[in-house]
Amino acid sequence: MASSTLPLSQSTPSFGSFRIRPVSASLSGVRLHRLPSRPRRGTAVGLPLRTMVISATTTEMPKKRQTASGGRGRGFVDEMRTVAMKLHTRDQSKEGEKESEAPPVAKWEPSIEGYLRFLVDSKLVYDTLETIVQKAVCPWYAEFRNTGLERSEKLAKDLEWFKDQGHTIPEPSAPGASYALYLEELSEKDPQAFICHFYNVYFAHSAGGRMIGRKVAEKILDNKELEFYKWDDDLSKLLQNVRDKLNSVASSWSREEKDHCLEETEKSFKYSGAILRLILS
Ligand code: HEM
Repeated sequence: MASSTLPLSQSTPSFGSFRIRPVSASLSGVRLHRLPSRPRRGTAVGLPLRTMVISATTTEMPKKRQTASGGRGRGFVDEMRTVAMKLHTRDQSKEGEKESEAPPVAKWEPSIEGYLRFLVDSKLVYDTLETIVQKAVCPWYAEFRNTGLERSEKLAKDLEWFKDQGHTIPEPSAPGASYALYLEELSEKDPQAFICHFYNVYFAHSAGGRMIGRKVAEKILDNKELEFYKWDDDLSKLLQNVRDKLNSVASSWSREEKDHCLEETEKSFKYSGAILRLILS
């Protein structure tokens, strides 16, 4: 079986290019104000991260996903997916365009400590995303409440389980803290870019994330399936429902706004890649 790799970030993205964009909350007809850029408090911003590439085998990939429009025509989610898939490696996906530079996930040697760091930082990111949609500073975000894809409570249960096993749960680290801060800021001043992260975080976890979870569980958890990788309803149904909402929200965006959202995909890979690398830390 061919192995494949996914190049993820080589460095934490710089905030230097952060753009303030006019935003329009078209679903409700409400216009958001531009917010001034704030100096970032993040600890990790600008820190060089270990250069590394994360990779995986294709052996246990989920079956080919339904397209956003059920195969008929293209919705905006198809566009977001196309851009994301190109950022995977060729080995990993036929749609990938990046070179493989690292051993596949199957050859990873994860540690419990590293995996806990990954779970803790992932929880911080999901807490942040789920708080943002609850607060719904931008009215669109309310569409994404209670989708069934939420991971924060599941991760809380998993961390509790690890604690019961006698493990010490670490504090969140730089990759998660800087991503959480970035998401908060983006959610207030750049909803199109925020939506890109929302899509990539939840959909990546439902695809490559699950495969990584299985591999790690095989190696260090005696195949225990964590709550992080379980959904309370049929996952493909939940994903389709969110695709429909994303398509609906984006249907009122201008081409420029759509392109701006798509351009954010690379940052999404960089931030999530930094968190994934914690598994091997
Ligand atoms: C080692 C890390 C990763 C692996 C092994 C991996 C692997 C995969 C695989 C196998 C798919 C399914 C392809 C298909 O539908 O045929 C996929 C889909 C996807 N991945 Fe990744 N991926 C990884 C990291 C990421 C990251 C960091 C992101 C962005 C934050 C990302 C975003 C996506 C998206 C948006 C999809 C489309 C999901 C869908 O069609 O519903 N992936 N990935």
